[in-house]
Amino acid sequence: MNNIQFSYGTAVAAEAIHAYKQQVAQAQEQLVNGTGLGNDFLGWMNLPADIRPQLDDIQATADLLRTECEVIVCIGIGGSYLGAKAVIDALTNSFAWLEGEKPAIVYAGQNIGEDYLYELQALLKNKKFGIISISKSGTTTEPALAFRLLKTQLEEQQGKEAAKRLIVCITDAKRGALRTLATQEGYKTYVIEDNIGGRFSVLSPVGLLPIACAGLDIKALIDGAEQMMQQCGITTPFEENPAAIYAAARNSLYQEQGKKVELLVNFHPKLHNISEWWKQLYGESEGKDGKGIFPASVDFTTDLHSMGQYIQDGERHLFETVISVLEPNHTVPFPHDDANLDGLNFLAGKRVDEVNKMAELGTMLAHIDGGVPNMKITLPKLNEYYIGQLLYFFERACGISGYILGVNPFNQPGVEAYKKNMFALLDKPGYEAESAAIKARL
Ligand code: PA5
Repeated sequence: MNNIQFSYGTAVAAEAIHAYKQQVAQAQEQLVNGTGLGNDFLGWMNLPADIRPQLDDIQATADLLRTECEVIVCIGIGGSYLGAKAVIDALTNSFAWLEGEKPAIVYAGQNIGEDYLYELQALLKNKKFGIISISKSGTTTEPALAFRLLKTQLEEQQGKEAAKRLIVCITDAKRGALRTLATQEGYKTYVIEDNIGGRFSVLSPVGLLPIACAGLDIKALIDGAEQMMQQCGITTPFEENPAAIYAAARNSLYQEQGKKVELLVNFHPKLHNISEWWKQLYGESEGKDGKGIFPASVDFTTDLHSMGQYIQDGERHLFETVISVLEPNHTVPFPHDDANLDGLNFLAGKRVDEVNKMAELGTMLAHIDGGVPNMKITLPKLNEYYIGQLLYFFERACGISGYILGVNPFNQPGVEAYKKNMFALLDKPGYEAESAAIKARL
């Protein structure tokens, strides 16, 4: 197998999938010709090709940070950090931080936890660290707060001039406080193009710089994404287009079978944050106008011992999309033990992955029997090329799926509500009226 593959198995009948052929064609046409809702946010569509001229520069910046820093802090929230974390965690050693591999990549600005920030500041004390500060709007509170704290610390530790070399900002070309600050301070910057939304930005400098800083091959990632871009294109016949079929299948499950929740399932803990990225992509893109499949995720077999009961036996509003990895990157053979006190000699000589694969197969069959339709995405292995394919596959399917659902997949009006309340409660200038109103409710 040279590419990732999607199969809907017995989850949906072939005729039900084909019933969406026309709607998929229309959605593809809207994406390609920019005639649908949110058409000013389609810059991600051709990004695997468009980003190529920037790759050498991104790599050079990453090489500088890798040479100079023991720790690199990626500051960002939502689409400004989830993609990088997803790829880095999927493709680097799970225990790299304990092995003391340099540079360590850590994250900030994805929460406002005071203890988290205290512990991060303590970790960075007297360490040579760099900062990648990512915010498209340049005004998001969480990353702005973290950036001020860590920039101050870096300047105290290194001096203002030396700190400049170790700070990179990724933001809008002109707008926002982060752009103003970066220009005034003379930091190295990359632009997030206007037509690329946060959750579709992993293949832009937003994702690529941190991923390159982790020592991963961003060219191979983009190669994979570009291959998938071709495969999911408008000229590919419906039956051969994995993004089209996935979008059709999940809409059929939602609309005809009443399945309101999609569980993205993995059997490899390294994929945990691919699911976190996917949840944002689909949740923010489809969850609006009172509609949308709720995207959730589980890590198996871990969560079979916590959520397994509900999935097997609880309310039947679920379907699962399983990410299956054909061949692990390493081999762990299971040893024979003469005493066999643990009774596990029936596994002797087998690979651990053989046990995992049987758990995967057994779980799929059990859940199908329990009324949870299962679909599968198969990756030949975990590497940059196939993860690049997976990212683009999910993005393209998300655009198609959102248009089939009849929503604008590229806006996120719902995320403003909490911000307005928070600013009012914190007495931010300009929020005086909201402040009085919200305080009257307390
Ligand atoms: O997908 C999105 O647009 C959001 O999740 C944003 O990425 C997130 O809110 C962060 O925004 P910004 O990059 O402007 O700080």
